Amino acid sequence: MLAGLLRLLPPETAHRAALFIAGAIPPLPHRPRPRLALSLAGLRLPHPVGLAAGFDKNAVAFSGLLNFGFAFVEVGTVTLRPQAGNPQPRLFRLLEDRALINRMGFNNDGVEAVAARLARRDPKAGVVGANIGINRDSPDPIADFITVLEKLAPLVDYLVVNVSSPNTPGLRDWQRPERLAPLLAQLRDRLTTRTGGRRTPLFLKIAPDLDPAGEEALVATALDAGIDGLVVSNTTIARPSHLRSPLRVEPGGLSGAPLFAPSTELLRRIARRTGKRLVLIGVGGIDSAERAYAKIRAGASAIQLYTGLIYEGPGLLARILDGLERLLDRDRLERLEDAIGLDVQSPGG
Ligand SMILES: Cc1cc2nc3c(=O)[nH]c(=O)nc-3n(C[C@H](O)[C@H](O)[C@H](O)COP(=O)(O)O)c2cc1C
Repeated sequence: MLAGLLRLLPPETAHRAALFIAGAIPPLPHRPRPRLALSLAGLRLPHPVGLAAGFDKNAVAFSGLLNFGFAFVEVGTVTLRPQAGNPQPRLFRLLEDRALINRMGFNNDGVEAVAARLARRDPKAGVVGANIGINRDSPDPIADFITVLEKLAPLVDYLVVNVSSPNTPGLRDWQRPERLAPLLAQLRDRLTTRTGGRRTPLFLKIAPDLDPAGEEALVATALDAGIDGLVVSNTTIARPSHLRSPLRVEPGGLSGAPLFAPSTELLRRIARRTGKRLVLIGVGGIDSAERAYAKIRAGASAIQLYTGLIYEGPGLLARILDGLERLLDRDRLERLEDAIGLDVQSPGG
C-alpha cells in the first residue's frame, strides 16, 4: 500500500517521503532466522538482505532502516565536497518495465556532514557500510578517494569504492586496470595502516557494461589488489530492446527488473573466475525471494535491494526472508551459506 501511495508522488518527492518515514522507524522485534545468518568478509549478518547504495546517500535514515530489518545498510555515494547533482528531473519510473532510470549525479552532503552523522551511530544496532565516490569536478580523484576513505573508515563496518556510476563523466574509466590497480593499492594501504588492528573490509562496485576483456582484466586487478570483494552490479547504460516505457530514452543508469538477468550473469561469471577468493554482494533487479536466491546460487554471499522496494513496497524484505527459508527446505539445505555458488560451475567442470 505504501509503495502505491508513494507512486502517486513525483519520484524524488516520493524518495524524500520514504527517507523521512524510514528514518523514524523505532526498534522492532524480529524473529531470529538462524538458517539465514552468515558471515560477510568477517562481518556477522543476521540474514543476507541489505539496502543498496543511493537510497540513504547522506546517512540520515540508516538507523531506522536497520530497525526495519535490513541486515545491513550502505550509505552514500559520499564525495569529498557537497554536490547538488544533475538538474531535475533526473529520476524516472519506467512503470511498464518495473524499472527506474536515474542520473542523480552523486547529489550528497559531502563527507564532513556524513561523517558527523555516522559518528553518532550505535555500532551494535547493525552493519553499516559507506560507498565512496568523487566529485564531478575533482582535480585529483585519487586524493579525494583517499580523504573520503580515511574519514569514513573508522565510522563504518565496510567500504565500497564506486567506480561504476554512469552519471559522473569519466568515473567508469577508473575500472581500467592501469588506473584501478594504483587506486586500490593506495586505498588498501591506507586501511591497513590507519585503522590500527581493525582492517575495514574493502569492496569495489562494478558496472554491468564491461566487455569480456574488460571484465577479465578488472577481476584480475581486484584479485591482485587484495581487496575483500565486489558489489555486482551498479545500474546499466544498456537499453534492452524489450523495454516498453517511453521513458527508456532518458539518459542515465537503468535499474530494476531488466537489470536482473545481465547483473546475475555477470555475478555468475565472476564467481566462476574467482572461486571463493572474492566475497560477492549481488545487486540488480531483485524483486522476489526466487531472484534473491538465484543471486546467492550464482555466487553472492549477500544481496542488496533498491528498485524492487519501489515497486513491491517495504513488505518485500519479509517476503524474501520467508521465501529464502522455504527455498532452503525445497533444496534440502540446512543453511543459506550452503547455497552460495551452487549454480556456479568450476572453471574445469
Ligand atoms: C535513484 C538511485 C540512486 C542510486 N544511487 C547510487 C549511488 O549513489 N551509488 C551507488 O553505488 N549506486 C547507486 N544506485 C545503484 C543501486 O545501488 C543498485 O546498484 C542498482 O540500482 C541496481 O539494483 P536494483 O535493480 O535493485 O535497483 C542508485 C540507484 C538508484 C535507483
